[in-house]
Amino acid sequence: MKTRTVMIFGFMVLFLIFGISSYLQWEYSQEIKNVSEYHKRMSIPSISTLNDIKINFQMIHMLSIEMIQTDVTDERYFELQEGYQIDRVAIEKDLKRYEDLTFAKNSRGELLASAVMQNQMQDYIFIMKQILQNNDAVIKQYENKEILGINALPLLASIEEEFHNTIESDTSMEIRGMEKVQNQIILIEENMANIFFTSAILAIATAVGVIILTSKFVSIPISRLILMTKNISKGNFKEMPINSKNSDVNEIAIALNKMSKDLEIYKSKIIMQEKLSSIGELASRLAHDIKNPLTVIKVTLDVIKTKNKNLSEEELEKFQRVNEAMYRITHQIDNVLDFIKGKPLQFEKFSIEKIIDSVIEDIPKTDKIKILVVSENLEIDCDFEAMKVVLINLVVNAMQAIEGEGEIKVSSKIREDKAIIEIQDSGPGIPQEKLEKIFEPLYTTKQEGTGLGLASCKSLIEQHHGTISVKNNPTRFIIEIPRKIEPISE
Ligand SMILES: Nc1ncnc2c1ncn2[C@@H]1O[C@H](COP(=O)(O)OP(=O)(O)OP(=O)(O)O)[C@@H](O)[C@H]1O
Ligand SMILES: [Mg+2]
Repeated sequence: MKTRTVMIFGFMVLFLIFGISSYLQWEYSQEIKNVSEYHKRMSIPSISTLNDIKINFQMIHMLSIEMIQTDVTDERYFELQEGYQIDRVAIEKDLKRYEDLTFAKNSRGELLASAVMQNQMQDYIFIMKQILQNNDAVIKQYENKEILGINALPLLASIEEEFHNTIESDTSMEIRGMEKVQNQIILIEENMANIFFTSAILAIATAVGVIILTSKFVSIPISRLILMTKNISKGNFKEMPINSKNSDVNEIAIALNKMSKDLEIYKSKIIMQEKLSSIGELASRLAHDIKNPLTVIKVTLDVIKTKNKNLSEEELEKFQRVNEAMYRITHQIDNVLDFIKGKPLQFEKFSIEKIIDSVIEDIPKTDKIKILVVSENLEIDCDFEAMKVVLINLVVNAMQAIEGEGEIKVSSKIREDKAIIEIQDSGPGIPQEKLEKIFEPLYTTKQEGTGLGLASCKSLIEQHHGTISVKNNPTRFIIEIPRKIEPISE
């Protein structure tokens, strides 16, 4: 998984939490809007209307009492009657207002009062109208002299009581409704606060989760990567597997491990070069020291030869052999020096068969070891002398490995665009644990060996862009070089 994926996942969870919480808050805000609309358009006007009805009825009641105590023919009675009519109209208007409230609607055009409440309100209106009519009837009876004022008084009192009870229960019904609304608002507010706190806690938990996950996912693997780089800088090139769930880190770890491996190879190459350069200095001195006595021997032999004109055929041949041997020594010293000093190779087309023939010619012959050459006649781009140095080293090693009688097989073939040369011997082979070391400079198991032979071979073959490897049973060194060497553009 990528670091980006973790971050995106974290942000998505956060967005989801905020989304759900905002949606729920919006829902509750709508509910609050409904409830406050109910409060504003229904509860408050209802209670104030009922209050007006109550005040107006009290006026009617007071006027009624005064009326039944006044003579109908009296001027005052007329005034009271007028007042009664005014309050009667006012209370009718109040009742009409209250009746209209049963059909009050919210901003979406929905009825605010429930069906039950509507019925209850209408019942109250009906009762109140009845009571008013009863009051009217008592006044009428008094005016028509059907009852005396003294008898009308208890009737008015009971009407007033009934009205009082009705308006009280109606008001308390409205107050209950209002309380219900307030409780609803409190509940909604509590819910909103809960949602706010829950979403805040969830958001914090998610953020903490993302931080922990990121640190586990990024910081910890990165500290492993830092450790890797520290190890590399200390020269510890051991592969460090990092099986992180973070694919970014894995990619870096793979790249670092590859870099570490490459550095290890470069390091061993540098060490080898350092070794070779110190060997080079030693070899130059040795070559100088060897060449001087060789020149003395050669000159002395020439002097002996010129002074002794009557030398036999056999003696002349011996002179010739000593000369050849001295030439080979000089030539080989020069070869090693060229290699160490890094003499640039001269690539030309040469027949492998010819190179092998020349090698066989140069090596000392023995009856005990048979050398078999199986070579396809093919041409490759190579440095003739360098290839000879390689093959001589390998054949001489093979001869030294064979104790007593044995056989060496030198073969060459073409595989696709590569030339493959194999030197196989019937010797005892190379112990498994030494296989890797034999190409290192100065590695030798021989008393008089320099341990430079195979190191030179490897270096020369690599300069031919090829490889050299070794296998046991039977022991064989395999050289693979490209047939054509592309010129390096400068
Ligand atoms: N054909 C072979 N069979 C068995 N061991 C071998 C063979 N070729 C090389 N070796 C081993 O590899 C070692 C290194 O060989 P290399 O040619 O580099 O040095 P050397 O032969 O010991 O010394 P020099 O080449 O200077 O005589 C040898 O000492 C020997 O132990
Ligand atoms: Mg050797």
